[in-house]
Amino acid sequence: MSIRNICCIGAGYVGGPTMSVIANECPEIRVEVVDYDKKKINSWNNLDLSKLPVYEPGLSEIIKKTRGKNLFFHENIDEAILKAQIIFLAVNTPTKLKGKGKGYAADLSNIEKCSKKIALVSKESKIVVEKSTLPVKTAEKIKEVLEKYSNNISHEVLSNPEFLAEGTAIKDLYKSDRVLIGSENTSSGQRALDVLMSIYKRWIPNKKILTTNVWSAELSKLASNAMLAQRISSINSLSPLCEYTGASIQEVSKAIGMDKRIGKEFLEPSPGFGGSCFKKDILNLVYLCRNYGLEQVAEYWEQVVKINEYQKNRFSEIIVRHFNGELQNKNISILGWAFKKNTNDSRESASINICRDLIKKNANINIYDPLVSKDRIFLDLKNIFQEVEKVSNYNPTIFKKINVFNNIDDCIKLSDAILILTEWDEFRNFNWSNYTKKSNQKPYIFDGRDVVKINITQNIYKLGNKIK
Ligand code: NAD
Ligand code: UGA
Repeated sequence: MSIRNICCIGAGYVGGPTMSVIANECPEIRVEVVDYDKKKINSWNNLDLSKLPVYEPGLSEIIKKTRGKNLFFHENIDEAILKAQIIFLAVNTPTKLKGKGKGYAADLSNIEKCSKKIALVSKESKIVVEKSTLPVKTAEKIKEVLEKYSNNISHEVLSNPEFLAEGTAIKDLYKSDRVLIGSENTSSGQRALDVLMSIYKRWIPNKKILTTNVWSAELSKLASNAMLAQRISSINSLSPLCEYTGASIQEVSKAIGMDKRIGKEFLEPSPGFGGSCFKKDILNLVYLCRNYGLEQVAEYWEQVVKINEYQKNRFSEIIVRHFNGELQNKNISILGWAFKKNTNDSRESASINICRDLIKKNANINIYDPLVSKDRIFLDLKNIFQEVEKVSNYNPTIFKKINVFNNIDDCIKLSDAILILTEWDEFRNFNWSNYTKKSNQKPYIFDGRDVVKINITQNIYKLGNKIK
């Protein structure tokens, strides 16, 4: 089968960068990324490349090369489906907020809606590719929907989960550790697999393309995220023990990671992992285990999320304890709102929870992040108060004591405490010695990310441990 058109439904953090790379590597294929979010599509089409909806190092350069040539962003989903031979589903699959599995299972309504649309619109057989992260056995459901609404057309479903991390998406897409494709063991399944492989083979070495059955591919994605998050929770679980014993969590992490069998990746202690996926994917895994009666396994994985919540709360408590619970009129500066460096994404960022805790204690809060907008910061706070805290008569005046700054110097000018919550290079490269020498306030620095090197005279805490 020769591929002339690819469609991707979902122009988010996965759809945008992934399709940009495919378009860049396959200049003869027309790649159309569609979304029902008009505002997002307009941003993808913005001539000012600093205003793309997703920030990723290297992304704007690829968009500049491909957009309008063989890469297109638009809202006409039907038209894109009709023309395409391959359709990627890169829609969001958040945790269900109601119904069976509420709070754990993945909400598959976006996937179901897309599958129904593909079935109704298509006039010929399509290769439907699961790019979104999905519970094992979702391909079966997609097939059912496709069969129910199609007019005697048979479509093929492949699982091709995405392993990119935000902030390094382009690098990850070009230098993937593996590209995983699950297909059905039938002749049409094999044909679909060959077609998708022919796309990746343009830039991914053969030995890095791993083919499995559909269920293994679906489950491997959930399991990979669970394992990565588990390592972070493991190291974070030791940080309170360090606080009580005088060990340093940074030194312990380094010592553990130097063992080749363990390795140093994903052992960096933090005020809790964030991002849109770890928590949701583990909860999804927990739900699946419970569904099959595997209670011990479910409990094992759920603990990874529980330790993460504990760690976020612990960080807030350290600050509250430091001020003996008296934060009224204290000026607290928060450096970093993104859930990690080099992204404008703040979903599930530890900063949101920590800021919420300090707002409740009536502190004055000053925030600075190099990429997350002021509107996004206030929206995150509004959401946590309305949806999580269930503040029934949500009152925006509680935000009167919050100021968002557009540079680090103004943000930390009059601080009683500075919290470093994202590991941005700008914070690492900041001249802390100079600042603490000049500052009359002598603020305490609570470094959650091991950013500040300790050649300063200031009082400094690293994840709870008072270093100086
Ligand atoms: P996102 O929220 O950034 O983007 C999803 C997009 O899909 C949104 O723009 C939304 O408007 C659109 N959409 C939803 N339903 C639609 C429909 N019916 N028709 C048209 N558009 C629709 O989400 P994301 O971060 O890109 O994640 C997408 C999926 O990829 C999730 O399953 C996630 O778990 C997985 N994933 C994410 C990452 C990551 O780093 N963000 C990495 C690997 C896998
Ligand atoms: C993660 C995985 O790394 C990707 O492989 C996966 O594709 C993606 O989830 C997904 O499915 O969405 P991402 O969440 O973008 O990627 O970023 P990570 O680098 O994994 O960081 C997640 C969180 O863990 C961040 O808050 C980060 O600061 C934190 N972290 C990471 C630590 O606290 N310590 C570490 O050692 C590493």
